[in-house]
Amino acid sequence: MEIKNIYAVYFSPAESTGTIVRAAAEEAAALLEKEYGREVPVSEIDFTLPAAREKIGKKVFAADDLVFFGTPTYAGRIPNKALPFVEELFEGSGTPLCALATFGNRSYDNVLRELTAVAKKNGFIPLGAGAFVARHVFSGIMAAGRPDAGDMDLVSKLAHGVAEKILSCGSSGADEALKPLDLGEPGPYYTPLGEDGQPVKFLKAKPKTDTEKCGQCGLCAEKCPLGSIDKDDVTSVTGICIKCHSCVRRCPAKAKYFDDEQMMSHLRMLEANYAERRAESEIIL
Ligand SMILES: Cc1cc2nc3c(=O)[nH]c(=O)nc-3n(C[C@H](O)[C@H](O)[C@H](O)COP(=O)(O)O)c2cc1C
Repeated sequence: MEIKNIYAVYFSPAESTGTIVRAAAEEAAALLEKEYGREVPVSEIDFTLPAAREKIGKKVFAADDLVFFGTPTYAGRIPNKALPFVEELFEGSGTPLCALATFGNRSYDNVLRELTAVAKKNGFIPLGAGAFVARHVFSGIMAAGRPDAGDMDLVSKLAHGVAEKILSCGSSGADEALKPLDLGEPGPYYTPLGEDGQPVKFLKAKPKTDTEKCGQCGLCAEKCPLGSIDKDDVTSVTGICIKCHSCVRRCPAKAKYFDDEQMMSHLRMLEANYAERRAESEIIL
């Protein structure tokens, strides 16, 4: 089989996942272009924001497309509020896929199992998977500076591995090389713990706004993946908050913050245990 188009498809509120997925797609394109002696265009499908998801409607990929698909890890799995988008917006037609996730130095737990299982159910053939350490959005010190050069080398190895699987498979496409990865079904979500080691719940936590600092620029509302911040009054969070920290990270005035006590207790536990370099990026081919 010969790949005609490559897609970088991702949900990435704080942009680390998008960076990794785009890099992998570009790397695979460069390798395939060299082999085929022609251009292999890379298109981006960023489904982080509501308007983008509306525009996508449903994207059906062809058998000769190659999809690099990524989400962050939230509680050890695909962010649960993004799962319906992953399940419903994209369909393969025996389309080869590489699953990618980022995680913030604790663990990627079940996310690659879940990404590959959903992909298979939706008509994709997962040929490779990788989880990459990236800045933990909750904290300024967890996985700061990640992904680093070593992580990006591994992104490149994964992209090459997937491209080589495609190249090694004959023109029929029915070659053994296109056997889907079988990572099994995902286990449960990770239960966040507080400082005392006991489970904490902060599902209802929402970002607050320091009105002295806020310049009402509206960027937080514009970039909220669930469209939950009122653009006419950004202090008002009218919908679900997934704690993605897009608003906190992007606010030019540093006016957004969380202060939910259980969430802060979880953050203190994380920073006490995972501030040091702990987890490594991993790829599976
Ligand atoms: C709600 C939430 C839950 C998270 N859970 C985990 C986790 O279970 N393990 C982990 O290592 N990192 C976890 N992280 C960190 C993110 O996976 C990491 O920051 C990721 O790179 C963010 O991706 P983005 O920049 O594309 O939004 C979590 C982050 C958020 C916001």
